Amino acid sequence: MIYAGILAGGIGSRMGNVPLPKQFLELDGKPILVHTLEKFLLTSEFDKIYIATPQKWVTHTRDILAKHDINDNRIEIIAGGKDRNETIMNIINSIDEWKKITNEDVLITHDAVRPFLTRRIIKENIDRVLLYGAVDTVISATDTIIASEDGETINSIPVRDKMYQGQTPQSFNINLLRQYYNKLTEKEKEILTDACKILVVSNQKVKLVYGELYNIKITTPYDLKVANSIIKSGVIND
Ligand code: CTP
Repeated sequence: MIYAGILAGGIGSRMGNVPLPKQFLELDGKPILVHTLEKFLLTSEFDKIYIATPQKWVTHTRDILAKHDINDNRIEIIAGGKDRNETIMNIINSIDEWKKITNEDVLITHDAVRPFLTRRIIKENIDRVLLYGAVDTVISATDTIIASEDGETINSIPVRDKMYQGQTPQSFNINLLRQYYNKLTEKEKEILTDACKILVVSNQKVKLVYGELYNIKITTPYDLKVANSIIKSGVIND
C-alpha cells in the first residue's frame, strides 16, 4: 500500500501573531493545507491520505475540507504529536489500526506548509521509495554553507557542490522507519528532529529526489508574501 501523510500538527510559532496555525492561513483564497492536499488528491497511487493536525484543530480541518467540497474517501484526519516525528508515528499507528502494516507498505510524508510541491516530485518519491526504502527531497545549495559551532567563528566551509538543502516529501518504507525510531532513546528523539536523519545515523541509505526552488516551506510572514508572489508568477510546474 502507498500512503500519504500530510504533517499539519505544528502551531507555527515563527509566523508571529496570527489567529490560526499557519497551515490554515489563506493563500490565494484557500487555506495553505487545502493547496497541499489538492496535490496529493491528484495522485491516484495513494490508497489513503492522512492529515495530522493539533488535536484541537481536527474539527476545524473537517470543516474547511467540507467548505471546499473535498470529500475524497481516502482522506483521514487525525491528531498529530508533540513534535514532527511523533506526528509521523501517530500517522503510522493510525495506518496500522486501519490495516496491519506489511513490509511492502510505504509512507510519503510532507509538510502541510509546502503547498508548491509538484506531481513530478510526488511521483519520483513513490517510485524511489518503493525501490530503495527511504527518500529525501532536496535542492542544490546555492549559497555557500558556513558551519559554526558557537555562531561567532567559522569551523568549516564544506564544498558547495556537495551541499543540498532539505525539502519534503520524505518517504519511507514504514517498517524500516518504525524499526529505527523505536530504537531511539528519549534524548535521541529530541535531537533527531529530521526523520531522514534517524536512518542516516543508523547507516541506512537514503536516496535523493530533486525538488524545486519554489517548493518552499512557509515559516515566517515573509514566506507568506513570497508564497503569494509564487502563485501570481505562474512558475509552478505540474
Ligand atoms: N509539524 C507537525 N507536528 C508537530 C510539529 C510540526 O506535523 N508537532 C508540521 C508542521 O505543521 C509543518 C511541518 O511539520 O507543516 C514543518 O514544521 P515547521 O515549519 O517547523 O512548523 P511549526 O512547528 O508549526 O512551526 P514553528 O516551528 O514556527 O512553531
